[in-house]
Amino acid sequence: QGCNSNSRGALVVLEGLDRCGKTTQSSRLVQYLEGLGHSAELWRFPDRTTSVGQMISSYLSNKSQLDDHTIHLLFSANRWEKRSSMETKLKSGTTLIVDRYSYSGVAFSSAKGLGIEWCKAPEVGLLAPDLVLYLNISPEKASERGGYGCERYEQLEFQSKVAQYYQVLHDSSWKVIDACQPMEDIEKQLQEMVLECVKKCHNGEPLSQLWL
Ligand code: TMP
Repeated sequence: QGCNSNSRGALVVLEGLDRCGKTTQSSRLVQYLEGLGHSAELWRFPDRTTSVGQMISSYLSNKSQLDDHTIHLLFSANRWEKRSSMETKLKSGTTLIVDRYSYSGVAFSSAKGLGIEWCKAPEVGLLAPDLVLYLNISPEKASERGGYGCERYEQLEFQSKVAQYYQVLHDSSWKVIDACQPMEDIEKQLQEMVLECVKKCHNGEPLSQLWL
């Protein structure tokens, strides 16, 4: 933990195609940071616990139908409803490891054919991640990993389009990790990157906002 009383936690986001291993790696990162004595929490989007999140969950499991624009805005609203508690946590010194964020929002909706600028607009002003860890896997390899095909977006052709839109969103906060390496190797690389970022944030790197 930093000795500076202003020191804040880091906002770290994991992104990638369905089945890239983000969820496993996210929880390992939290355990790792906690083991070093840092305050850290695992968050995920969609956050299915809120009422907006329940609408999203029902849509994803094909129990309800929604217009593409509508579901896009619900995903975004689900991040906005968490924004202030996210900021409070970060300012209190807790690092947040977040499984998916606005990049998923834009990549998945753009892959359906919505304009990328339209998709980005409702995300503007959300907190910008200090670090985005992109777990890179080909759509073919991801589809070979079990458990594919239960939810709405888990189809090869669609995931290929999502991968293309992720490329467009790549910026200087991104690190790309080869998700086909052995799990322990990925874990080690992520740990190093996150630790460096946590230190930078403890040392006063200011929080910024997305896509302004
Ligand atoms: P999950 O499997 O990580 O819970 O995510 C559920 C699905 O929702 C996944 O296929 C990605 C998609 N998604 C969006 O389309 N927009 C978003 O904003 C987010 C966070 C996820």
